[in-house]
Amino acid sequence: MYDNWEELEKESSQCRKCKLCKTRNNVVFGTGNKNADLMFIGEGPGADEDIQGIPFVGKAGKLMNMAFEAIGLNRENVYIANVVKCRPPSNRNPEEDEAMACLDYLRNQVILVKPKVIVLLGSIALKNILGKEYGITTSRGKWVEKRGILYMPTWHPAALLRDETKKIDFIKDLKLVMEKMKNI
Ligand code: URA
Ligand code: SF4
Repeated sequence: MYDNWEELEKESSQCRKCKLCKTRNNVVFGTGNKNADLMFIGEGPGADEDIQGIPFVGKAGKLMNMAFEAIGLNRENVYIANVVKCRPPSNRNPEEDEAMACLDYLRNQVILVKPKVIVLLGSIALKNILGKEYGITTSRGKWVEKRGILYMPTWHPAALLRDETKKIDFIKDLKLVMEKMKNI
């Protein structure tokens, strides 16, 4: 564990702990307010993120930004990171060994940010953070408290691109989060 951002970011930028290092262009470490009360965790970088080195800048990210705007949330005020920091080829799901190798960085980020609330974007984030027994369909929209942090699982923004009806759920879940942030 690192107690400062510089060392953590430097270490991850050179990381070769899993096979995703072979195909990545950039390590996508995380972005936003390092003192945020609210954090978002996605799955892993896509093509655009891999090129720019910033999470959620592609299609799914643009949709997420629009949802943020709709509920009055400023992206600059939250911290955003992913389960894996290097792009899985062809946007496949991160494999077990890759997620396991990478999770130490994310855990360290959570320790440094000290968020009160974490939004888990999609099944990969949910299962890797809260446990394999959780399923996104039954868990989304419901608070889970664990070790002093409140978690809100919701759909991954990419799922909204495939299924319009999920946008309504997504906004609903984000509104619950906004309400909670007012009271903590
Ligand atoms: N999807 C993710 O899970 N993370 C990103 O950063 C971009 C797309
Ligand atoms: Fe390292 Fe994570 Fe990239 Fe794998 S995905 S090489 S563990 S930074």
